[in-house]
Amino acid sequence: MELLDQIREKARNLQKRIVLAEGTELRTLRATEILIREKLAKIILLGDPLIIKEIASREGITISGAEIIDPKTSPQREHYAQLMVEIRKSKGLTTQEALESLNNPLVFGPLMIKAGDADGEIAGAINSTGDVLRPALQYVKTLPGVSVVSGVFFMLFKDKTIGENGILVFSDCAVMPDPDERQLAEIAVTTAKTARSIANIEPRVAMLSFSTKGSAQHPLVSKVENATKIAQEMAPDLMIDGELQLDAALSEEVGRLKCPGSKVAGKANVLVFPGLEAANIGYKLVQRLAGAEAIGPILQGMAAPINDLSRGCSVSDIVNMVAITAIQAG
Ligand code: ACO
Repeated sequence: MELLDQIREKARNLQKRIVLAEGTELRTLRATEILIREKLAKIILLGDPLIIKEIASREGITISGAEIIDPKTSPQREHYAQLMVEIRKSKGLTTQEALESLNNPLVFGPLMIKAGDADGEIAGAINSTGDVLRPALQYVKTLPGVSVVSGVFFMLFKDKTIGENGILVFSDCAVMPDPDERQLAEIAVTTAKTARSIANIEPRVAMLSFSTKGSAQHPLVSKVENATKIAQEMAPDLMIDGELQLDAALSEEVGRLKCPGSKVAGKANVLVFPGLEAANIGYKLVQRLAGAEAIGPILQGMAAPINDLSRGCSVSDIVNMVAITAIQAG
């Protein structure tokens, strides 16, 4: 079964409650119809019910079966405001400020999760990554033992000889502009777990650089070299190697030549880029020029799954991200 079919099948079995924070957005409503019809999750739309129903009826979209909650009138507002004040007391947040913030669905969604009223959230079809992530980071926070939230793409290729049966996992393509060596190590270990949990991939993690095993000397190379050592200490059983250039990571011939004996070089299926610039540009190059399908960004390291859509997302991107979010919640 193809990866996306497997993901949808797993989500269907879990029946998680997923919040779609941009409830008045047309692609989101079209995705809701599919999600309900295919029984992939229990959908909660945020927004004014009158407006949501009016758009759905005008566009001929069936959304009966989705719960609609208006963040401006929800009876849970007081409870969520209390939670917010408790979480942000060191920052001096007042109840009045919390209540005002809750008018914003991007704040209300994470609070639903925090309060146990939902299992995951998706937004970003009409909001920036920063606006989706900030309240998620502030209220849902990271998993115990994790300090860094980061974003992964599953790159799917028609050519099944690439990566793991046509799948490569790229990270961090979405969140940390300039991770330090410890953060980079954490991103690598977390990405390996995501590769396993979403796609059942046994990860072989390449820590990418413009140098292979000391072929160049530069502080940027040392950062990746040190991050590799830290990641190896954090997860001694993980197959991880670095620093590697991309060809040494992916080409068996180059890998054998430059890093004989490496369990990763030449056969990597998880690529950890040294920073957000390289990763974000890298995944888009592969998507646009190699025609790979890019599934993500899937955010990892958060205490509960909240995922950010691209503003250019399609209806099926939203459906897939809901299914992935459900699996992360499971
Ligand atoms: N992991 C965990 N916590 C974090 C992280 C992180 N990666 N980044 C920030 N935080 C925490 C901060 O510590 C802070 O917590 P606090 O308020 O309790 O002290 C809170 O989140 C908010 O952080 P700020 O510093 O106030 O917010 P900032 O403006 O730095 O926002 C953000 C963080 C939004 C993630 C920022 O780093 C960002 O914009 N990153 C780039 C996102 C982006 O544009 N990606 C490319 C597009 S996505 C794509 O193309 C697929």
